[in-house]
Amino acid sequence: MKFFIDTANLAQIKEANDLGILDGVTTNPSLMAKEGIKGTDNVMQHYKAICEIVEGDVSAEVISIDFDGMIREGEMLAAIDEKIVVKIPMIKDGIKAIKYLTSMGIKTNCTLVFGPGQAILAAKAGATYLSPFIGRLDDISYDGMDLIAQIVQIYAVQGYQTQILAASIRNPIHIIKAAQYGAHVITSPLESILALIKHPLTDSGLEKFLADHKKNNS
Ligand code: E4P
Repeated sequence: MKFFIDTANLAQIKEANDLGILDGVTTNPSLMAKEGIKGTDNVMQHYKAICEIVEGDVSAEVISIDFDGMIREGEMLAAIDEKIVVKIPMIKDGIKAIKYLTSMGIKTNCTLVFGPGQAILAAKAGATYLSPFIGRLDDISYDGMDLIAQIVQIYAVQGYQTQILAASIRNPIHIIKAAQYGAHVITSPLESILALIKHPLTDSGLEKFLADHKKNNS
């Protein structure tokens, strides 16, 4: 399973990349706004800066909701760097845009996915990645992981090539379950990735090993 970081914060992207386990980055307009990145030129430069840090795919989201606008933006974003994946919302024109951009050899990430029917359409259109939002489903009392399991099964039965990118991750359990259920990728805030490292028995065990070493060598 690939690990993407879900942020537009360059320091956090560097920190995750330095761990040596980072496979890519996802952003969205809210994450760009959080970093105060505004204006087309600044947005483009920021994506370029992200691409210079990481080796893998970098999802950059369109803000148009009509086919022509999405294509125009998608081609502009894809021209920044070959790592760019154009993130397109799961709407009618979005499906058409995914089909078109895929036919032009541009990678796509179908975002704002909350149901299995949407997942089937995105795969049919040839999306490179599909982003089901686990946390936002959990927030409204639906089990986001059930959706991941359902899509994994459908894609396996149908032989779809689209990679399932579990998004809207809120905690380390989401990451572990996504791996268990067979998601191809997770995108997560740095905090949840780092939380995977922590275990109280690791900390107390290490403390004892170091104390015993010190006693034995003093
Ligand atoms: C990633 O592609 C999504 O934009 C992101 O994971 C959404 O996460 P949120 O529900 O925490 O905003």
